[in-house]
Amino acid sequence: MPSDGYFNEIVASTYDYDVDSFNPEAVDPVVNFLAELANGGSALEFGIGTGRIALPLAIKGVEVHGIDISNAMLTKLAQKTGGDRIPVTQGDFATTLCGKSFSLVYLIFNTIMNLKTQDEQVKCFQNAASHLNPGGNFVIEVMVPALQLIPFGEKNYVFDLCDDHWGVDTYDVVSQSVESHHVRVRNQKLEMSSIPFRYVWASELDLMAKIANLKLKARWGSWKKEPFTNTSRYHVSVWEKPINTN
Ligand SMILES: C[S@@+](CC[C@H](N)C(=O)[O-])C[C@H]1O[C@@H](n2cnc3c(N)ncnc32)[C@H](O)[C@@H]1O
Repeated sequence: MPSDGYFNEIVASTYDYDVDSFNPEAVDPVVNFLAELANGGSALEFGIGTGRIALPLAIKGVEVHGIDISNAMLTKLAQKTGGDRIPVTQGDFATTLCGKSFSLVYLIFNTIMNLKTQDEQVKCFQNAASHLNPGGNFVIEVMVPALQLIPFGEKNYVFDLCDDHWGVDTYDVVSQSVESHHVRVRNQKLEMSSIPFRYVWASELDLMAKIANLKLKARWGSWKKEPFTNTSRYHVSVWEKPINTN
């Protein structure tokens, strides 16, 4: 794997083209949710990327720091207005320390799934816990694996099929992995890319939290705090670091 992981120069240069993820309808509920939870304290984003959420969160008055493995993504962040005022540490968020503690650590947009083993995902929870003040919160936003949407024995799930993008997830229940394949039309050219993930259920995340001495505080079906139900396609989960760890 290249040193920037799967988020190399090409990905970084086009990341912000995904207008749906950058429009206020998508961004504002995330920023409002996180700002409320930070409650006047500072926040650390694991996998900060180009600052899609970190920048508007900082504009809202939250002191935001970030960890990211990709120099290409961090360079894009630094080039944006206000980006140079967000302290970042380049490294793996499963293990990298940034030498400060926070009221809030958050890891969103399915990025926990970029860690491709259970061990790394467990370490990520432990690293989040180690960066939290007592009473602080760790937030994850991640999809519910789409296995109920594909017939028994099938592996492929078409999650997008529009004029300029086709997306197919290929599931493997034996290794608990999913590979996302994309075909994009850009500048009248076809671009193909694939990225491997480890999918993870909410119950397994709760066990990882327990290993890291974090306690489930809330689980929502959306950033607008809709209930998490049998048909939710993703969840936003919050675990708290107890004030008294005895
Ligand atoms: C899908 S992007 C999300 C970026 C940003 N959080 C957002 O919501 O737009 C995933 C980001 O996580 C970073 N990343 C993936 N695996 C990582 C790891 N193990 N350690 C640190 N950063 C990682 C990538 O470089 C990329 O910037």
